[in-house]
Amino acid sequence: GDAAVAVAHPNIALVKYWGKRDETYFLPVTGSLSMTLDIYPTTTAVRLSSEPGDTVVLNDRPAVGDAHARVARFLDLVRARAGRDEYAVVVSTNAGPTGAGLASSASGFAALAVAAAAAYGLDADARALSRLARRGSGSACRSIFGGFAVWHAGEGDGEAGDASSYAEPIDGDALDPALIVAVVDDGAKAVSSREAMRRTCDTSPFYRPWADASRVDLEEMRKAIARRDLPAVGEIAERNALGMHATMLLARPSVRYLSPRSVAILDRVLALRADGIAAYATMDAGPNVKVLCARADEQRVTTALRDAADIQVAHLGPGAALVRDDER
Ligand code: DP6
Repeated sequence: GDAAVAVAHPNIALVKYWGKRDETYFLPVTGSLSMTLDIYPTTTAVRLSSEPGDTVVLNDRPAVGDAHARVARFLDLVRARAGRDEYAVVVSTNAGPTGAGLASSASGFAALAVAAAAAYGLDADARALSRLARRGSGSACRSIFGGFAVWHAGEGDGEAGDASSYAEPIDGDALDPALIVAVVDDGAKAVSSREAMRRTCDTSPFYRPWADASRVDLEEMRKAIARRDLPAVGEIAERNALGMHATMLLARPSVRYLSPRSVAILDRVLALRADGIAAYATMDAGPNVKVLCARADEQRVTTALRDAADIQVAHLGPGAALVRDDER
């Protein structure tokens, strides 16, 4: 008690979360589905302290401003639920290259949820931890689980919505895909995903059609995973991601995350498919492109992309977990 360490991995959505119906509770407009990766873990230690105020250290640097405020607000939630009032020292390290745009807020808040719940003695099962992690960053609720996970949009706003909006694992391990991450650019993003999704919901005439299509994508994706149909999984993921980016292009002002180098990778993915290799692209709030393919094809895909980007190969990874004392 009073101190705990947890590890969590990033997840990449194959059906995207893009848009909140309730910003306070991080309730999404649509459900989403992701795979948790086995690269770039975040390790987070939480220790209760008698000092006033929360201390937050991210990648060896003290967090200030908004980064500190997000963690402190999250700890306020945990304290309120645990009925405790001690502040905490949080030390978090992300193994990925900073700025690679690889969902570090997802692994970050999943690890923080697990470590903080343990340190404050909160009695929380995986579903409760998923709902808690969601309050730090929506996509973090999916990183509580390994492999494939679906995040249910849930129903209602406020507390009612909170109870019904969580992630849970779905059985897709038999697919055993590779996700080839093409890091084309690590420049700071121009617009945060939080601001970009708000602007898209508020101003894009494409938003509602995309959200309606995304609900269908989610149902079809679940069926494609169940029948182990990797080409169908890839096709649905690619169209869902391209649609999300299209909604943003029509936001006012427009948001564009894809760069010429991203588009060059998309061309190579098409060329791979023309060669009969089942490879499909997905992109998030940044220019990097993630390419889904069968493990048996990962060498050919890596070779095809190598001179266009820095390549990281990922597979299905584990859910968030406490690190035992004797493993530290
Ligand atoms: C494009 O979870 O980072 O990666 O809830 O505001 O913290 P907040 O947003 P965040 O958004 C992730 C958006 C995405 C798609 C996805 O992961 O589903």
